[in-house]
Amino acid sequence: MLDIGSKNWAYVRGEYEFFRQYTPNLFLDGVEIDAYRLYSNFYSRYEAAKFYIKGLSGVNYYADDLLNMRGEYDYITWFLPFVTPYPLLKWGLPKKYFMPERLLIHAYQLLKKEMLIINQGDEETQIQKSMLDKLAIPYEFLGEIKSSALEFQYPRNGFLVIKNRED
Ligand SMILES: C[S@@+](CC[C@H](N)C(=O)[O-])C[C@H]1O[C@@H](n2cnc3c(N)ncnc32)[C@H](O)[C@@H]1O
Repeated sequence: MLDIGSKNWAYVRGEYEFFRQYTPNLFLDGVEIDAYRLYSNFYSRYEAAKFYIKGLSGVNYYADDLLNMRGEYDYITWFLPFVTPYPLLKWGLPKKYFMPERLLIHAYQLLKKEMLIINQGDEETQIQKSMLDKLAIPYEFLGEIKSSALEFQYPRNGFLVIKNRED
């Protein structure tokens, strides 16, 4: 399984425990292009992620571009991809990394079964939907995704991309 754009992967334990209920022999990779950015305490996202994955067997964090990832993943999670340039620039990434379609195509190539994509706000959700339609990637729109623990500033919506669907 692959998590795309993991940041410092503070949520890895929740992801790991959830998916391990269904996949006892879970292998979970996280990939983050901006992993060496420093926090004000001079620790990097990479160092934070190493801390969060401690003790979780089969879990690896890659400080890399999604486009460099190879192989196949049964399941992929992709929380809050950049589908408009402004949030990417605000995040501090250079504009050359704004390529939502190319990234989506690559993620779909890595996928074997199902990919959960979460977008925030209506505009990003609409853009995500248009990209999936344009690329003829099959999906189910899951509607608004709520958290029992967190209150999101903007409503979040989910897409479940399903590969090799038989019906
Ligand atoms: C809005 S953040 C979401 C972070 C995290 N998934 C979360 O939900 O808290 C998007 C993340 O994707 C990363 N990212 C953007 N382009 C990427 C790429 N080509 N490969 C890997 N990570 C990328 C960014 O650096 C950023 O950490």
